[in-house]
Amino acid sequence: MVIVRTVEALQKAKKELNGSIGFVPTMGALHQGHLSLIQQARRENDTVIVSVFVNPTQFLEGEDLDAYPRREEADTKICEVAGVDILFMPTIEQMYEKDELCIGAPAIRGYILEGEKRPGHFDGMLQVVMKLLNLSSADRAYFGKKDAQQLALITQMVRNYFMDVEIIPCEIVRDENGLALSSRNAYLSAEEKERALCLSRALKRASKMVMAGEFDVDVIKAQMLEVLQEADRVEYVAIVDRSFKALKKVEIGNTIILVAAWVGKPRLIDNIWI
Ligand code: PAJ
Repeated sequence: MVIVRTVEALQKAKKELNGSIGFVPTMGALHQGHLSLIQQARRENDTVIVSVFVNPTQFLEGEDLDAYPRREEADTKICEVAGVDILFMPTIEQMYEKDELCIGAPAIRGYILEGEKRPGHFDGMLQVVMKLLNLSSADRAYFGKKDAQQLALITQMVRNYFMDVEIIPCEIVRDENGLALSSRNAYLSAEEKERALCLSRALKRASKMVMAGEFDVDVIKAQMLEVLQEADRVEYVAIVDRSFKALKKVEIGNTIILVAAWVGKPRLIDNIWI
């Protein structure tokens, strides 16, 4: 595995490559969720590139940019063992100049839910993902369904800008209790980790209701909110179609149920696709 820290070194390393390139962008503090993306990229491509970059432009004022877990040594080990070919770990200066041209998220997918609660977050995310996709020259890029709205926006960006890369959606990886893995879980105490399970429990309750024939969104949401009482604060529960339009009735095969809630320090998100 080669570790590259500059754009120039990455361009140079890429010149040596033959065959297909699979790319997994991350902000590091790698866990089993990231690893599953890397493993899939490894199975499906000749070369695997992983990036670790805590992107400042997608953090809002007052968010956890400085506190965001950084584990360069452990991340390097994980990538090495997983058979990554190129690990790209650029500095902020490598990635940005002052006063850049930016693209903005579209209204329907960009300014509801996460986009409403974290204004500007998706613009910064799209900005860095555009840069990283261009830099990697990937044939396929792997993203988790965990960040469902992010995945939808990246898919749209690639479509709207005719970018020649296939976006591969990957399943959510959970711990043995059902908690969706996240780098921000590192902020949870043991007691909070227990309470954080209410997110996946609420989603499980919703999917059970749907399986039992209950399609009414308001009825399902009310039940979910009961389960979510263990969280410190619920930010939203949403039931939308795959293009993020609100639904009145669940549509099998076209629904995403999402939740965002605070438990202790971190704000957690989770979802299921129905
Ligand atoms: P990060 O939160 O590090 O996540 C990197 C990728 O891993 C994303 O595609 C995310 O959806 C996926 N992922 C995280 N937890 C997962 C889980 N439990 N199961 C499956 N996949 C999971 O998302 C970002 O970084 C950034 O916004 C980024 C795209 C790198 C742009 O800065």
